[in-house]
Amino acid sequence: MKKKLLALAAGVSLSAATWAAGEIRLVVDTATPGPVIHRNIYGQFAEHLGTGIYEGIWVGPESKIPNVRGWRKDVVGALKNLQVPLVRWPGGCFADEYHWRDGIGARSKRPVRVNTHWGGVAEDNAVGTHEFFDLAEQLGAEAYVNGNLGTGSAQEMSEWLAYMTAEDKSTLAEARRKNGRDKPFRVHYFGVGNEAWGCGGNMTPEFYVNQYRQVATFLKTPEKNRPLFIASGGNDQDTQWTEALSTKNINFNFDAIAHHYYTFPSGKWEGKGPAVGFAEDQWISTLANTLKVEETIIKNKAILDKNDPNKKLGLYLDEWGSWYDPEPGSNPGFLVQRNTLRDALLAALHFNVFHAHADRVRMSNIAQMVNVLQAMIQTSKDKLILTPTYHAFEMYVPFQDATSLPVKLLSNPSYSVGAHSMPTVSATAARGKDGRLWLGLVNSNATQAQELTVELGSETVKGFKGRILSAAAMDAENSFKAPEQVKPQPFEAAAVNGQLTIKLPAKSILVLAAER
Ligand code: AHR
Repeated sequence: MKKKLLALAAGVSLSAATWAAGEIRLVVDTATPGPVIHRNIYGQFAEHLGTGIYEGIWVGPESKIPNVRGWRKDVVGALKNLQVPLVRWPGGCFADEYHWRDGIGARSKRPVRVNTHWGGVAEDNAVGTHEFFDLAEQLGAEAYVNGNLGTGSAQEMSEWLAYMTAEDKSTLAEARRKNGRDKPFRVHYFGVGNEAWGCGGNMTPEFYVNQYRQVATFLKTPEKNRPLFIASGGNDQDTQWTEALSTKNINFNFDAIAHHYYTFPSGKWEGKGPAVGFAEDQWISTLANTLKVEETIIKNKAILDKNDPNKKLGLYLDEWGSWYDPEPGSNPGFLVQRNTLRDALLAALHFNVFHAHADRVRMSNIAQMVNVLQAMIQTSKDKLILTPTYHAFEMYVPFQDATSLPVKLLSNPSYSVGAHSMPTVSATAARGKDGRLWLGLVNSNATQAQELTVELGSETVKGFKGRILSAAAMDAENSFKAPEQVKPQPFEAAAVNGQLTIKLPAKSILVLAAER
């Protein structure tokens, strides 16, 4: 059944949209709380890549752009609103060519290297260990340092950890003090290599597992500053890395497996598809490919549940996000792409999936924080814009450390275009740290609104209040000329005769709190 939908939410222009009425039921099991949604699911990733760090966040203390010890005030301020829980650094592929000693001491004396992975540009090492921790501390975020296994050694990695964490009078600890940091840095997470199956060394899982066992033996810190140790895992739908890592009896310095999952509109590495100017077939193919992240999580979790039934190991999606053909005219090695409403939905779909698997998925890191791939923020000289993805992250802040509530979507129709098909609505629910019941809803249908009835068991509420993110065009974006085309708007839905019905506009994200 189709009806005319006139006005759904203040500020969202959706005149003449059509909606399919009445069939979808969202059943929230408010009586059986699930695991806590770890705030680290909302983690970020900043690599030495293009303008992801240099220009994007780091401008140096001498810059005219307002900064605190070299880090841009405007970017750090905007990121603080996301309550960024952690930042992964320095890569990515870059990590396996990064030698930490290049990035300490007087910046004017640091060596200049070539960033061979990303654009072949000069890397002057202005951002090193001390600068990274300053950023993390300015953001109030935890630090995830990724070690170099590819071109490094056990010795180099263990000395880096000692440099960062030692409290003694060793030469390494004294060197840190001489470089301006008396107390140790708090290293929360430490990764051993990155994408060992590819840019990190083209290893087999078995070879990597042996390397990991050797290196991890020498990764020592004071007990109170022991990071969680992360092994480099598989990619996309792969499971063999999880299998190899979790069966080879690594029972020391091994806390999580890092799995990567990128979304390409075409599903292929070559000819990924454009970031803007796409038709509905690429809207749906992108979002349908995103939802396949749940298949890989389920398969990898099943292996972990078999090999690690006590759930010691985390499954960290420490790189995820959209990856499009590079922006025409940009350096292809800088991974510059535009960011539209489609990216915001892609992010929210990930969040809803991650929440459903919060027992194992205890960290995820979108690629990447600023200017690279699916960024939160894009900068140009002293200006910045907040992308639609930024707004999705900001809307979902109440889910950080919330307690998940199981949800069922009944009679959720398929949304189909050509050969592509996916469930129309995606939903998540949680009890926030504020005690309120929160819903995160996504209507992926690009043209049709949907009506959803909400059942909360014995819990009675007057309605829902929150915000919606939508726009008239599938590829609506914020630009330097028009920075506020896509931004959240207020939304509310009141119960009528005890019945809770929410009308979800086409291509929208809603984050709503129950009103008592
Ligand atoms: O995020 C960009 C790159 O994607 C990372 O450096 C690498 O790990 C992955 O292939």
